[in-house]
Amino acid sequence: MPESGKIEITVQLGKRSYPIRLGSGTLPELGPALQPLGFEKRIALISNPTVYALYGQTVLDSLTRAGFDVTLIKIPDGEEYKNLLWTEFIYGELLKARLERGSCLVALGGGVIGDITGFCAATYMRGIRFVQVPTTLLAQVDSSVGGKTGVNHPLGKNMIGAFWQPSLVWADTSVLNSLPAREFAAGMAEVIKYGVIRDKTFFEYLEKESGPIKKLAPGNLMHIIKRSCEIKAEVVGLDERESGLRAVLNYGHTIAHAVETLTNYKKYLHGEAVAIGMCAEAKIAVKRGLLAAADHERIKALAAAYDLPAGLPDGLISDQDLIQAMLMDKKVQSARIRAVLPVGIGEVRMETLSDSDFYKL
Ligand code: NAD
Ligand code: GLY
Repeated sequence: MPESGKIEITVQLGKRSYPIRLGSGTLPELGPALQPLGFEKRIALISNPTVYALYGQTVLDSLTRAGFDVTLIKIPDGEEYKNLLWTEFIYGELLKARLERGSCLVALGGGVIGDITGFCAATYMRGIRFVQVPTTLLAQVDSSVGGKTGVNHPLGKNMIGAFWQPSLVWADTSVLNSLPAREFAAGMAEVIKYGVIRDKTFFEYLEKESGPIKKLAPGNLMHIIKRSCEIKAEVVGLDERESGLRAVLNYGHTIAHAVETLTNYKKYLHGEAVAIGMCAEAKIAVKRGLLAAADHERIKALAAAYDLPAGLPDGLISDQDLIQAMLMDKKVQSARIRAVLPVGIGEVRMETLSDSDFYKL
């Protein structure tokens, strides 16, 4: 079921509803798309040197032609710059350029740029609007949608943040052609996640179509991004602030965050850690008698098919270190570790874990 043309998905949040617009080769149309949104003339484009060198001029030209007076702000490329120091740098640039309450921030980049820009938008002058222009697969299927914004603290990743929804998500799938293969694979971990948590048919599609998807066949690419965004939009629309259902999006992430912390964010990309986490959490589900062993094997095989790690390497991390690191997770309640476990392909449930779950993981 390849898709083509332009697609619009709405995140339904009452007055704060917004569209996700998917298309290929659509970056030059961004400026006109912003015109009806009623922003002040003065806006800011936030990016990093890597992405800006590839797509910055196209976006800047489009915004300028549409009548916007654009302040360009670049921060260095890397997760280590998603912090309060660089947030303050951005605030300074916004103040110097006299951006106002009615101004808008445009985030051009992957999840790092999207998260820090969203956080600046949430807090600058008590909140201004922003637009997400995601350029990695992970950002197009996950981080640009749903309004989780934030930065890292030396004591924990994404520990400082706010829920702040964008006014528009503008995803041009053609930019994924320049994405390094390892980054594409990392984004596929989140795509696989959607299949496991909510859509068995989608999971089967990912199994069947791994060849063309890995070759970035346009129709297949559009389909996986569309379906992922539909699932994320549905979940966020039902539970914006993660009081319940939204936690399903954290499948694989409880263990992933611990693995990232224990390997100092150097060994694995976020998506790779999520793949490890999904396989490990599926294994816990099998040990608890919640999931058929064959389904665990299918999840591992699908991760491997997209060149992702399919489990924790032997001896890399001890059970005790893993447990200690997980106690820092935002989902910990009364010092008990909670995780989303699959109970079949397409269905998950939140469970409280005990130390024995991690034995010989
Ligand atoms: P990233 O933003 O670091 O981008 C990965 C690399 O790809 C960077 O070097 C970037 O410059 C480069 N790049 C981006 N687009 C490119 C393109 N089209 N061509 C070539 N290179 C390109 O990483 P990411 O995986 O996009 O995002 C990870 C971040 O997202 C983490 O900070 C994570 O915490 C966050 N995240 C947030 C949410 C959320 O809901 N807010 C969800 C998942 C992840
Ligand atoms: N990436 C998890 C969420 O947005 O809730």
